[in-house]
Amino acid sequence: MADPEQTISQLHASALGQLELADTIEAVEAVRVDALGRKGKLNEISKEFGKLTPGERKHIGKLLNTVKQDLEARLEARKAALETVALDARLASEWIDLTTPAPGVRPGHLHPVTQVQRELEELFVSLGFAVLDGPEVESEYYNFDALNIPADHPARDMQDTFWLKDGRLLRTHTSPVQVRGLEMLGPPLKMIAPGRVFRNEEVDPSHEHTFYQLEGMMVDRDVSVAHLIYFMKTLLSAIFHREVTVRLRPGFFPFVEPGFELDIQCLICGGTGCPVCKQSGWVELLPCGLVHPSVLRYGGVDPEEWSGFAFGLGLTRLAMMRYAIDDIRLFASGDLRFLKQF
Ligand code: DAH
Repeated sequence: MADPEQTISQLHASALGQLELADTIEAVEAVRVDALGRKGKLNEISKEFGKLTPGERKHIGKLLNTVKQDLEARLEARKAALETVALDARLASEWIDLTTPAPGVRPGHLHPVTQVQRELEELFVSLGFAVLDGPEVESEYYNFDALNIPADHPARDMQDTFWLKDGRLLRTHTSPVQVRGLEMLGPPLKMIAPGRVFRNEEVDPSHEHTFYQLEGMMVDRDVSVAHLIYFMKTLLSAIFHREVTVRLRPGFFPFVEPGFELDIQCLICGGTGCPVCKQSGWVELLPCGLVHPSVLRYGGVDPEEWSGFAFGLGLTRLAMMRYAIDDIRLFASGDLRFLKQF
């Protein structure tokens, strides 16, 4: 055996040299296996011990142990250092600065029905109308009785009205605000009441269980159909941004007398007939009439002294016409691809 002392110190030095270069935990482990492993270089030396004198054996054995311990400690230290580096790198890469300002308000906008509603509110306010609210959960009295709708009227039917267990209901129209408005403010009164209404409908492209209406009413002395037509024409010109031709047909609603269906001359074909107006030249848009004396009385108003007109505009329907939307269900779908277009 060559000088074992020299071999050991050479192995020691070379292992330290390799360790110096090891820059991953795997590389450190490879150095350990190579030097200290069961078949490692330092263990090879122990196999030669038989050839040594007992004195040499003791001396070399001690030396070998010292070197092994030294290497073991350095390997561990190197491993720990590399682990710290790896952790630091990970912390640096995963660090989030919570104080960085947010990327800004995500641009949003009002729902198309709300846009139409706000526009009409502005118009009516400019004409001296008050904007009133009524409850969506309404009493049978305001939704039906006070509007002169008799108990056997089909609108009260189970199919059309969502009834609550306590006898109240989800309002089927915005008309109840007529009587609430009269009670609250008294005549003379010019008011609109936009809002959400509910019907127990079979849902299809033109029917929803939830939609929006805008109720309007004017009560004063000597209000006539002429006032009604004036305000309706003003309203429709503002909505469609042009002069519109209207016609009145008789229509029945228990809370107006006389009652009308107000049609506009078709804006698509100008009255000559097209698919939109079903070749008639006219589009039905706005039910209206002169407030029924019974409704005035329910509102605490003397019909001998006061008269009024009222109308019910389908806001959702109007938005559909304005934006050429062919499926009412899109409005409440929550589909951003639809909503982002407005
Ligand atoms: N409330 C009626 C409905 O939802 C619409 C209506 C018709 C309102 C005539 C009115 C009116 O104010 O005068 O079907």
